[in-house]
Amino acid sequence: MQLRLAVLGGDGIGPEVVGQALKCLKAVEETFNHRFIYKKALVGGVAMQKYGTPLPEQTLQLCKDSDAVLYGTSGLPKYDNDPNAKIRPEQGLLQLRKELGLFANIRPVKMFAEVLSHSPLRKDIVSGTDFVIFRELTGGIYFGEKKLSDDGTVASDLCQYSEHEISRIAHLAFKAAKKRRKKLTLVDKANVLETSRLWRRVVTAIGQSYPEVALECLFIDNAAVQLLLRPSNFDVVLADNMFGDMLSDQGSVIIGSQGLLPSASIGEDYSMFEPVHGSFLQAKGKNKANPVASIFSAVMLLDHFGLKEESNAVYAAIRKSFKKKIVTPDILGSSKYGTDYVGDFIASQITDSDDNTNINEYNIGLGKSTII
Ligand code: IPM
Ligand code: MN
Repeated sequence: MQLRLAVLGGDGIGPEVVGQALKCLKAVEETFNHRFIYKKALVGGVAMQKYGTPLPEQTLQLCKDSDAVLYGTSGLPKYDNDPNAKIRPEQGLLQLRKELGLFANIRPVKMFAEVLSHSPLRKDIVSGTDFVIFRELTGGIYFGEKKLSDDGTVASDLCQYSEHEISRIAHLAFKAAKKRRKKLTLVDKANVLETSRLWRRVVTAIGQSYPEVALECLFIDNAAVQLLLRPSNFDVVLADNMFGDMLSDQGSVIIGSQGLLPSASIGEDYSMFEPVHGSFLQAKGKNKANPVASIFSAVMLLDHFGLKEESNAVYAAIRKSFKKKIVTPDILGSSKYGTDYVGDFIASQITDSDDNTNINEYNIGLGKSTII
């Protein structure tokens, strides 16, 4: 298969972790005889420094001309701490999601037995955790009208959703649940928010077409609690943009490290793959960032294009790095392995391994055929 990939490293540790994902994709090309063409472009703070905008026209165009985007991270602390900043690195990412129509953000949260002791939760609680968050990505409070009164003392952000926006991601979530453990949890705040009540109505109606999937609805505050008490009870979690953002970061911590959680952002025409974690500027250039979330994102990319054997090979190689404790210090404090070494090891296991095909547990229900 030939794939054109736009590579947007972004800020902080982004380029370093994406670099490791590229090593793995190159190993896949070699091993499975594919051809991937990589083209790099600037986005976020680095693009602002060079072009004065976080999403330059040529970057957007490159993404539109590609089959998929491999994204690093965005964000610089100097903007985080400046409430008056007019443009921010994150706007590049948000605009890109909107421009590419990436309405479904899929974030698999799985506790790996090899890193169980690293979870801040008790082993008996977190063991067996394996759920996937379907986060709506191009609507809601993130994209509603923003206002600040002239005197700067009153502000508002509109949270708006249409039936159409809810239904297209709900179908994807139900389809994924059908292929998994057949449970879907809708997370909302329907006791307070009108948008949440719309979500409930639309999702419950769609649920009728998926009788084999059990639907439960939880308020976000309760969901945050349940995620800590009984994370293994969740299978597919469906949430709006804001609630999905919060729950996924919580999810990444309970599985042991923010450096492990990948994501796929899917739309009708485009797809983008990025780690859930932030730009972690303090670690930039220090060769200590965990590349696994980015490499897992490459697994999701391969899966999205139907390259199942290939995605399993990379997945198996990552699992091998866990088993052999070839991990970065966020996973194992005493580890002497850096970003590069871990990336090299995982890539080498893709090329050399003879038992990759034996691990076939990577199933989150992705795949182009699921798009409606
Ligand atoms: C994420 C990030 C982004 C978001 C930021 C960087 C705008 O936190 O992808 O989860 O809130 O969507
Ligand atoms: Mn987030």
